[in-house]
Amino acid sequence: MPYIYTPVLQITATQSELETLLAAYRRDGKSIGFVPTMGALHKGHISLITLSINENDVTVCSIFVNPTQFNDPADLKRYPRPVESDREMLENAGCDILFMPSVEEMYPNEDYSLLNEDFGNLDKVMEGKSRPGHFAGMITIVNKLFTAVKPHKAYFGNKDFQQLTIVKYFVKKHRLPILIRECPISRDIDELAMSSRNRLLSVEERKAARLIPSTLFNVKEMWGRKTIAELKAFVESEFANEPVLKLDYFEIVHFETLMSLMEPISPETPIIACIATFAGKIRLIDNIRLQ
Ligand code: PAJ
Repeated sequence: MPYIYTPVLQITATQSELETLLAAYRRDGKSIGFVPTMGALHKGHISLITLSINENDVTVCSIFVNPTQFNDPADLKRYPRPVESDREMLENAGCDILFMPSVEEMYPNEDYSLLNEDFGNLDKVMEGKSRPGHFAGMITIVNKLFTAVKPHKAYFGNKDFQQLTIVKYFVKKHRLPILIRECPISRDIDELAMSSRNRLLSVEERKAARLIPSTLFNVKEMWGRKTIAELKAFVESEFANEPVLKLDYFEIVHFETLMSLMEPISPETPIIACIATFAGKIRLIDNIRLQ
């Protein structure tokens, strides 16, 4: 009889049971990799899971649609929650543990108080400006999840570049013993960055959304030959000609400080271009490293 590998995904909804599952690994000095998500998993999430599996003895994925990081209640309500297909994807990927807590488990007694962290410029610009309170909610839940899982390594995607920057800053500032692993953006065949929100797009919106990556790739191609003002004007005109999409912001910023850049720019400055658009009510973000 050939040996058939049947992956087993252990699922828990409580922090105490999670600790019981992880205790044996900790005792044996095994490494724990952690991938926090809000579910509606796609290949982008799975690429993080796969990296964690390759680098650790045990991989924990959390699925928790965190209410405190949604500044728009309608966005929270419509956020997709395909529990069964998420479970199947994690099992097929070879994930070991799925932590799927309730809101009460993470915010007991309806205590939604948030961490009051000073991130300087990092949470004032781009997503921080467009989604007030979003990063306070995000870092509050990431901190709670880090406390619950106590991973050696945690995996975050570059798709949410500003989130990643803030998490790195937080971990460094508080000297948390967690290595933050930065993962590349997974894109669909038409180059649109994979996102849980993509499944909410109409056929027309999905088609129009290709303009987001194609504009970023054009900006990268023109980088060094055009000024920042010219590039911004280019992006604005591209989106002005696409009625299905509305540009929220396009920024060219310093890769570490997220400060807007002024010309002239030295070739050593690390730079990234970030974009946010609306397709109807659905918000889509993307970015590209320029130098
Ligand atoms: P979520 O949007 O589910 O994303 C979970 C992780 O997957 C994040 O680190 C995100 O950057 C990464 N990710 C999403 N799309 C990706 C893509 N196309 N390519 C590569 N990585 C991608 O981000 C969150 O959840 C939440 O804010 C969370 C950190 C879980 C806190 O609630």
